[in-house]
Amino acid sequence: MPDEDGYFGERVAARYDESEADMFGPEAVDRTVDLLAGLAGKGRALELGIGTGRIALPLARRGVPVQGIDMSRAMTARLHAKPGGDTVGATIGDFATTRVPGTFTLVYLVFNTINNLTTQDAQVDCFRNAADHLEPGGSFVVEVGVPELRRLPPGQTAVPFRIDATQWAFDTYDTVTQAMSSNYVTVVDGRAEHTSIPFRYVWPSELDLMARLAGLRLRDRWEDWDRSPFTHESRRHVSVWEKPAG
Ligand SMILES: C[S@@+](CC[C@H](N)C(=O)[O-])C[C@H]1O[C@@H](n2cnc3c(N)ncnc32)[C@H](O)[C@@H]1O
Repeated sequence: MPDEDGYFGERVAARYDESEADMFGPEAVDRTVDLLAGLAGKGRALELGIGTGRIALPLARRGVPVQGIDMSRAMTARLHAKPGGDTVGATIGDFATTRVPGTFTLVYLVFNTINNLTTQDAQVDCFRNAADHLEPGGSFVVEVGVPELRRLPPGQTAVPFRIDATQWAFDTYDTVTQAMSSNYVTVVDGRAEHTSIPFRYVWPSELDLMARLAGLRLRDRWEDWDRSPFTHESRRHVSVWEKPAG
């Protein structure tokens, strides 16, 4: 169950970097940081859901001043304990509504974290909040998966994604509200433990509408951080909306 740190409390934070080791490798990080550093230019960057600094720290090492917002003290404590962690500020709060001082040339929200906002209203608020932090001409970048509804046969609401000797994992989908959850049944010492994490899936076109409501317009949409074209087979997207200059 979540505490005041949300679903990223002490237990999850302690294992986060290790359990997401692939996402901390240069393959995943370098291209992301290349693209973000280019968009930030000579300005400052704000990461929504900064976590343990997977992207923020290497971006700061490129010379981009980085600030973050996160609701988890446990996650940001790990960020600040790392080399260079004292150069990155983190404000504790909900990134859909929390305001930090100053303006930024880049606001970014990666690794499906927009889905952690479990209502459409909260996702709309998040776009407004990002836009409020941007300088004219600045960019809001979101990396998120394309909803995998093609894996959901008619009449079915759950899709398994891992079945092994000690864990069964499945996603559930509510196609009316776009609520989903990732569920893990793990066998520990012969007993089954169930963990369920709520999300809200969101379509690229719906994100474009949220951006328009916030006064932003789509500049680019790619399949990945290498700027590969986004197609009907793409399983995720990296989208860039800009705040019109002037
Ligand atoms: C999947 S982790 C991603 C962390 C980091 N961006 C990365 O790429 O490794 C999601 C992070 O977002 C934070 N988070 C989730 N929902 C949030 C919200 N509504 N407001 C602030 N932080 C939130 C969590 O505490 C966690 O640190």
